[in-house]
Amino acid sequence: MNILVTGGAGYIGSHTLVELLAARHGAVVVDNLCNSSRTALKRVEQISGKKVPFYDVDIRDREGLEKVFSENSFDCCIHFAGLKAVGESVVKPWEYYENNIGGTLVLVDVMRKHGCKNIIFSSSSTVYGDPEVIPVTEQTPKGICTNPYGKTKSMLEDILSDLNAADVKTGDAKPWNVVLLRYFNPIGAHPSGLIGEDPSGIPNNLMPYITQVAVGKRDMLHVFGNDYDTPDGTGVRDYIHVVDLAKGHVKALQAIEQGCGVAVYNLGTGKGYSVLEIVKAFEEASGVKIPYVIDPRRPGDIAANYADASKAEKELGWKAEFGIFEMCRDSWNWQKNNPDGYR
Ligand code: NAD
Ligand code: UFG
Repeated sequence: MNILVTGGAGYIGSHTLVELLAARHGAVVVDNLCNSSRTALKRVEQISGKKVPFYDVDIRDREGLEKVFSENSFDCCIHFAGLKAVGESVVKPWEYYENNIGGTLVLVDVMRKHGCKNIIFSSSSTVYGDPEVIPVTEQTPKGICTNPYGKTKSMLEDILSDLNAADVKTGDAKPWNVVLLRYFNPIGAHPSGLIGEDPSGIPNNLMPYITQVAVGKRDMLHVFGNDYDTPDGTGVRDYIHVVDLAKGHVKALQAIEQGCGVAVYNLGTGKGYSVLEIVKAFEEASGVKIPYVIDPRRPGDIAANYADASKAEKELGWKAEFGIFEMCRDSWNWQKNNPDGYR
């Protein structure tokens, strides 16, 4: 298939490009580089040995997108482009709604005008809020998102689903196919060490913070709370290797090809690890000690969440292959070889 990859220069997008090209799909990237670098795309070309056509276009720019669609024919869009910092979204809600929702509305409008009504969307386990029962399945009701970022994910799931529902209702001969992929916590990097996560400023997420401590850029890890109702009191999450996550997108194309309508999949490993377990696993994989201090809980955090990912296995034949050791090993390999990221 020929795939439009919005946000393809970003962390998950760049890893997905590698897997799409390995599976002999064509890929064209649209990214405004607001949180990424062209170098990531050059590195994807280095890994894959293939050229990646790139448009420096903002998905809110209708004319820019029109040009992309007039020069290419797409079977599907994998839509990663968006702002993703939870804390920032609380202080800049307008920017998050305008970019993530406004951008997606322009994107799907241009897509439908050009007859491409297949989309795979980057959603998040954050749509489950603070679930009463874990592991969560796709049937678990959506919960209350405590921040604008999470709300954009939940709203966009609804908006995209409504596009399909309207087509079904009106008997459209070519209805929208929408795959909503709910990612759990992606970490790790391509085993080559050429591409990885490159946060700007102080990392919000656990693994990039740990790797920056390991490489000497930060003094110590701040563990946000050790009084949760979890085995060691620290937060439990379902960490997934970004290469496994990337492969999930290639598998999701099958659902599109089969005319799935709306299909929702959890992409996680099904295993939860606490913050302190991650610290220990990282120390084992890297041989580097991670000093830490216990801080108060971070507002908005939940105690624990992990996935029941059996639906993706049953329907798509997708299952996460890498374990926590490989996730830590590859995160460290990336950070150690690129202490300043792509800069
Ligand atoms: P990222 O920031 O590395 O990648 C997003 C890319 O989108 C960046 O390259 C950025 O430059 C681009 N972008 C942002 N706004 C744009 C716009 N208006 N026009 C064009 N390009 C734009 O983030 P990521 O970690 O690779 O995440 C990819 C997607 O997955 C995002 O939608 C994110 O919300 C979602 N997601 C991420 C996580 C995670 O923990 N990383 C978890 C769940 C969901
Ligand atoms: N944590 C720390 N110290 C840090 C960073 C995180 O102790 O410096 C803890 C958190 O309290 C939490 C765990 O590590 O218990 C994981 O935190 P992350 O920030 O790495 O991940 P979250 O689960 O909070 O959220 C991330 C993304 C969301 C996304 C979600 C699920 O930031 O956007 O994963 O994909 F929705």
